[in-house]
Amino acid sequence: MSITTYLSSALTVILTILLLSRSAGAFHSAGVASCSGCHTMHNSEDGTTVLTTNRAGNNWLLKSADPSDVCLSCHATQFGSVLGSDPLSPPNELGAGNFVHLLENNLNDAPDGVINPIPGSAAGHNIISAVYGISRDSRFLHAPGGTYPSNHLACTSCHDPHGNSNFRMLHGSGPVQGNIGAFFYAAPVAVGLNVTSGSAESNSSHTAYVSGMSDWCANCHGNYHDEAGSGSFEHPANEFLDGEITDQYNRYNGTDFPTSGVQTYAYLAVVPFEDPSAGVNSTLGPGPQSRVMCLTCHRAHASSAPSSGRWDFNVTLLSLDGLQSGSYPIPDPYNSPNQTGLCYKCHPSGSD
Ligand code: HEC
Ligand code: HEC
Ligand code: HEC
Ligand code: HEC
Ligand code: HEC
Ligand code: HEC
Repeated sequence: MSITTYLSSALTVILTILLLSRSAGAFHSAGVASCSGCHTMHNSEDGTTVLTTNRAGNNWLLKSADPSDVCLSCHATQFGSVLGSDPLSPPNELGAGNFVHLLENNLNDAPDGVINPIPGSAAGHNIISAVYGISRDSRFLHAPGGTYPSNHLACTSCHDPHGNSNFRMLHGSGPVQGNIGAFFYAAPVAVGLNVTSGSAESNSSHTAYVSGMSDWCANCHGNYHDEAGSGSFEHPANEFLDGEITDQYNRYNGTDFPTSGVQTYAYLAVVPFEDPSAGVNSTLGPGPQSRVMCLTCHRAHASSAPSSGRWDFNVTLLSLDGLQSGSYPIPDPYNSPNQTGLCYKCHPSGSD
């Protein structure tokens, strides 16, 4: 049976069931009731013809030509607002960051920022979307450090469109996007903020990262900053914070107060770490079980800094962010004109 026939017949059966038992649950938890939120049963909807073959050449009977556009029809400016509409005024930060920064024309806030622009495509993951004008990142044919093809990068490269019980419905091990790729590692363990309330992340309300994030990113990137990896910057990404680094994180309270912090209130949402006892509302700094991971320094979707940085790695003072490039300045969590980059949260020298 072809996938189209299968899909059409599955949808027919499901829509029949739907008439008998309408679920009032939220969209992704409404089970079969939600097929028609993303798929079209016939080749037409409300009298207009709907594409059956999408731009990537697949026949998934989707409502949009690109899988990402199906998701963005709901998520661009609501239910977590992961895109937004204005790169200078992004929606509330919930953890993953906003794709609108991919539409910036310059992200370079180094002193040479004006003459050497870094394009918005470097802001993070270029999820291909005809509707929002986001195309493949021309710098990368594949995920740096891995083989995942950038010409298929979509919301569904990372999230399971059919829902699952993982954190944020992220894919676990197995085939992805109808075999465009396959993951080796399981989904990370974490708890996120409520996407329907839309309240912004803060130091006392943030994703609680428990374990497995670096392995999960490695499904596509390998251990990117490893000695043997392909990055120019070498850094451990799944290692326990040793006693010295834990102490530094806990006492550091910004450039102006480098030693006055206490562990009870040390958690900085902009520089998170994994811990088995992490909690969404916890303000506790790290302990012996805490680990550095990919999202210590990166946002998962995009940011207004190059390489989807949680802060701009190219500025010496956070107050310089946005000045050269005219891009959105990432808020300084310490709110001080003297504040340096956030590597200092773990390293007293700012590097090692
Ligand atoms: C949130 C959007 C969404 C919902 C709801 C949804 N799908 Fe899909 N479906 C997709 C997307 C997007 C693809 C294309 C493959 C990809 O990008 O992962 C797809 C692909 C498929 C495929 C072919 C490839 C595969 O992954 O097996 C089938 C079959 C399918 N869907 C059936 C269903 C059925 C049946 C339902 C209802 C129970 C449903 N879908 C609900 C978005 C959705
Ligand atoms: C018809 C509107 C609609 C579409 C289309 C849609 N979503 Fe959602 N999504 C929602 C709503 C509503 C929620 C919040 C309630 C829930 O979880 O069902 C949500 C929640 C989510 C969450 C957070 C789940 C959690 O654990 O808190 C993710 C991730 C997500 N959607 C991804 C996607 C992806 C990926 C697609 C495209 C394949 C998609 N959505 C398509 C409406 C939609
Ligand atoms: C499904 C595969 C996939 C997964 C999973 C994935 N990435 Fe990527 N990533 C890519 C691809 C493909 C590119 C290159 C295309 C692009 O940059 O748009 C990329 C690019 C990047 C970039 C460079 C952005 C730029 O433009 O300079 C960073 C940083 C990054 N990923 C970090 C991460 C982190 C951190 C995680 C885990 C939270 C992750 N990725 C998970 C596929 C993936
Ligand atoms: C490279 C992998 C990747 C891609 C591509 C991706 N996501 Fe995510 N997404 C994640 C991860 C990881 C998280 C959790 C991040 C965190 O809490 O730090 C997340 C979180 C979310 C959330 C919760 C709200 C938030 O901002 O944290 C929603 C909703 C969501 N994604 C929807 C989408 C949609 C819609 C798309 C496509 C437009 C998309 N994602 C593309 C990996 C991805
Ligand atoms: C301690 C902070 C830190 C951690 C942890 C970290 N990164 Fe990075 N990452 C950086 C910095 C700084 C850059 C920019 C410098 C560079 O590209 O060499 C970067 C750049 C990247 C790039 C983009 C390269 C490009 O050419 O645009 C990718 C991809 C990437 N990181 C993936 C990852 C993945 C995957 C992990 C987890 C396995 C990770 N990073 C963990 C700081 C970090
Ligand atoms: C959450 C804490 C944390 C943050 C934030 C952090 N690091 Fe690290 N860093 C570590 C840990 C843990 C190690 C490994 C233990 C050690 O070398 O003391 C490390 C090691 C290093 C090393 C030695 C690498 C090697 O292979 O020997 C350098 C250099 C470094 N970090 C630079 C940076 C820079 C630059 C930043 C900001 C972009 C940064 N770190 C942010 C925790 C962190």
